[in-house]
Amino acid sequence: MLSQELRNQTQTAAAILRQGGLVAFPTETVYGLGADAENPQAVARIFAAKGRPADHPLIVHLASVAQIAHWAEDIPPAAWTLSRHFWPGPLTLILRRSPRVPDIVTGGQDTVGLRVPGHPLALALLEAFGGGIAAPSANRFGRVSPTTAAHVREELGENVDFILDGGPCRVGIESTILDLSTGRPRLLRPGAISVAEIEAILDEPVTGAGQGAPRAPGMLRAHYAPRTPVWLLSADVLEIEARRRLAQGRRIAALTLSVTALPEGCDRQAMSPDPTDYARELYARLRALDATGCDAILVEAPPQEAAWQAVRDRLERAARAGLEQGDGADA
Ligand code: TXA
Ligand code: MG
Repeated sequence: MLSQELRNQTQTAAAILRQGGLVAFPTETVYGLGADAENPQAVARIFAAKGRPADHPLIVHLASVAQIAHWAEDIPPAAWTLSRHFWPGPLTLILRRSPRVPDIVTGGQDTVGLRVPGHPLALALLEAFGGGIAAPSANRFGRVSPTTAAHVREELGENVDFILDGGPCRVGIESTILDLSTGRPRLLRPGAISVAEIEAILDEPVTGAGQGAPRAPGMLRAHYAPRTPVWLLSADVLEIEARRRLAQGRRIAALTLSVTALPEGCDRQAMSPDPTDYARELYARLRALDATGCDAILVEAPPQEAAWQAVRDRLERAARAGLEQGDGADA
């Protein structure tokens, strides 16, 4: 149950949305930066606040499954099946858009991303507001998504009109995105809801990402990155790299799973061996290491198993961003 204080805050936040303002709010995955999805000027402010290119579409958040029909057309049976099963929850469905969806929300595409978030404060806000809330993750473009209200303040500061504080996010990484607009379910971004779970409900195979042109900025090869370059390394290589860099007088930090034997002088965050707990902690830990002022963050690569797919995806993107940026190391 939400406290009366938080209920009052959702009313204030809904009023700000109606006036074209920006409201950051918690979801079970990460914090979102929301605007009235049917107000193009308000949505434009999201792109400005994030520094996000205009051709990157936004997810429209809804209060209930029934609202799909307002936002999408030619809705396949799979969309009803999956939304009834997984919503509220960390699954975004890409469907053919209805003409009501402003172009600025979809980046001019003929599809729209929809999701009912599984967080009581997000649902209370959506109910108080009544309409759809367009919301990307509440971070600067390309950076690590916020999982606390404090992260949102650090990232966006004055650029957001109101922040609803619902504590740390339960899931910690962004929703699974499934494209249902082409007749064949296709995974665009792995998340807490796995392909296996989706296939079990749909009774048909889901094709993987990687085919065709990237349509989602979350699919940009380099994304979800701290400012400090990230290196994704196996346990043994990580130990060797840590020694080598320290010997060169570099300041390094490490995000580890099994590695314990790290040299003195290395900031270390030991991660949970459970992929769900790991995901919940990941972005806050990366932010903490980013703030240490080190030259590089060495990350121990998680196992290759399916349960780690979403975490591995985020780490691989963070590491590619580091490569593209370059960290001046002679490796
Ligand atoms: O968990 C989440 O999904 C969070 C919370 C706030 O709901 N939101 C989030 O939004 O991660 P954002 O904008 O940071 O990432 C959404 C992804 C982007 O990669 C975007 O391109 C993709 O969803 N997307 C949105 N609409 C799409 C569409 N019509 N077709 C393909 N991809 C789409
Ligand atoms: Mg994002």
